[in-house]
Amino acid sequence: MALPSSSSSSFSTCVLFLLLLTLSCFFNNLNAKHNVATNHNRRHHHPHQHHTQNTPLNSRLDQAFLALQAWKNVIYSDPKNFTANWVGPSVCNYTGVYCAPSQDNSKETVVAGIDLNHGDIAGFLPTELGLLADLALLHLNSNRFCGILPRTLSNLTLLHELDLSNNRFVGPFPNVVLSLPSLRYLDIRFNEFEGSLPVDLFNKSFDAIFLNNNRLSSSIPGNFGRSSASVLVFANNRFGGCLPESIVNLAETLEELVMINTSLSGCLPQQVGFLYKLRVFDVSFNKIVGPIPYSLAGLSHLEQLNLAHNIMTGIVPMGVCELPNLENFTFSYNFFCEEEGICQNLTSKRIVFDDRRNCLPEKPLQRSKKECNAVNENPVDCIELCCITEGGFGNNVTTSSSVPTMPISAPPFIAPSQP
Ligand SMILES: *[C@@H]1O[C@H](CO)[C@@H](O)[C@H](O)[C@H]1NC(C)=O
Ligand SMILES: *[C@@H]1O[C@H](CO)[C@@H](O)[C@H](O)[C@H]1NC(C)=O
Ligand SMILES: *[C@@H]1O[C@H](CO)[C@@H](O)[C@H](O)[C@H]1NC(C)=O
Ligand SMILES: *[C@@H]1O[C@H](CO)[C@@H](O)[C@H](O)[C@H]1NC(C)=O
Ligand SMILES: *[C@@H]1O[C@H](CO)[C@@H](O)[C@H](O)[C@H]1NC(C)=O
Ligand SMILES: *[C@@H]1O[C@H](CO)[C@@H](O)[C@H](O)[C@H]1NC(C)=O
Ligand SMILES: *[C@@H]1O[C@H](CO)[C@@H](O)[C@H](O)[C@H]1NC(C)=O
Ligand SMILES: *[C@@H]1O[C@H](CO)[C@@H](O)[C@H](O)[C@H]1NC(C)=O
Repeated sequence: MALPSSSSSSFSTCVLFLLLLTLSCFFNNLNAKHNVATNHNRRHHHPHQHHTQNTPLNSRLDQAFLALQAWKNVIYSDPKNFTANWVGPSVCNYTGVYCAPSQDNSKETVVAGIDLNHGDIAGFLPTELGLLADLALLHLNSNRFCGILPRTLSNLTLLHELDLSNNRFVGPFPNVVLSLPSLRYLDIRFNEFEGSLPVDLFNKSFDAIFLNNNRLSSSIPGNFGRSSASVLVFANNRFGGCLPESIVNLAETLEELVMINTSLSGCLPQQVGFLYKLRVFDVSFNKIVGPIPYSLAGLSHLEQLNLAHNIMTGIVPMGVCELPNLENFTFSYNFFCEEEGICQNLTSKRIVFDDRRNCLPEKPLQRSKKECNAVNENPVDCIELCCITEGGFGNNVTTSSSVPTMPISAPPFIAPSQP
């Protein structure tokens, strides 16, 4: 599946809510501007009030003014002139700066959003950004901001969306984001963050976490299953280990799990089949072994299933091919040796599929007998193959007590949808 560097449009409810929030900010801003304009017209008749327009309207805008000027001072390239009009105290008129009535005092206008997406701006984030205490949205997608995030960002207690994607931020995972009590949408993809993930990332109430295309490595904490997110995109990092059984704890929330090229190994746990809200499941380009769990037949909302480029074996179960919402089933570059029932003719179900480079005797473009034999002569035992790999997903936190036990047998037969 594609990993766009701009904000994803692929998750619905959450983004819809966020869009509404964004729009409400924009509308508030328009209203604010409208009010300013109306006042301005009225003020023609009251020249004694006119001069207030060039001074900050309140102390919070004054703080924002200090913050934005400090920021402008550490911007070294702005080819689209986004910050050219960041002059003077009327911060609500700055390009990319959005004002709205304050949450605690609707008569007071504050800077509620900053959107410099696709600005191609080069510079740093100064410590003075901590003065933007009323900020709800900070969107800096596709710029050339570099360095690390200032600790003072922890002052942004109302920040709801933070999009730093496609910049040049470096250093360890920016732990300061974990101190933001209102944060729901965290997007740090396409940067150069490195090292391990903090344990606390998964017990924050984030709705969406995008970490893909960084240099994160070493381990995903075992409390992974505690996340409340509906979208987790971790692709193109070097985490390693197995998908933990504790993933079952995400059943009430998880809709998209994208773990392309994250050095996953081991077998897919049966528990994946109990993530009944899942629409997208992509674990392609990993080192996953063993069979497709029959439990995947329980994923009745699943639309996109990508298992390609792993070392998976066994049969492609009919229950998966009969999933009522399946649109695209990609399982090429594995070692599957049999397609059960309707799996042999996914075209008849209008499911886009790719079954190339497996060991399917009746199908074209398969692996050689030699290749297939080499893998199939050494079947994996998923129960033996314990998930405790160095620095991996499956670590001690996930075991025993906290994990509900799940039946190993296949879930009830799911009736195929009518063509
Ligand atoms: C199906 O999924 C694969 C893997 O994500 C993707 O490469 C392909 O473009 C998809 N096909 C369609 C028609 O969406
Ligand atoms: C930005 O401003 C500079 C100097 O005023 C001008 O030369 C340039 O064309 C402007 N660029 C854009 C994209 O407007
Ligand atoms: C801010 O922008 C509005 C509308 O574009 C304009 O009427 C107003 O004069 C501007 N204020 C200042 C101080 O530049
Ligand atoms: C945090 O915000 C408050 C305003 O709410 C401000 O007075 C204070 O200076 C800010 N602290 C930092 C470190 O920026
Ligand atoms: C998150 O979980 C870790 C370990 O499970 C715990 O140490 C930490 O206190 C938790 N943090 C919060 C904010 O609940
Ligand atoms: C997988 O991720 C690594 C970085 O972790 C990257 O160098 C490599 O190109 C990626 N492979 C694919 C097939 O995208
Ligand atoms: C697959 O099904 C379609 C229509 O349902 C049929 O026309 C086609 O011959 C079938 N292909 C194979 C290989 O059985
Ligand atoms: C996991 O448990 C084993 C044995 O109890 C212990 O040796 C190991 O250090 C533990 N690993 C972690 C990451 O806690």
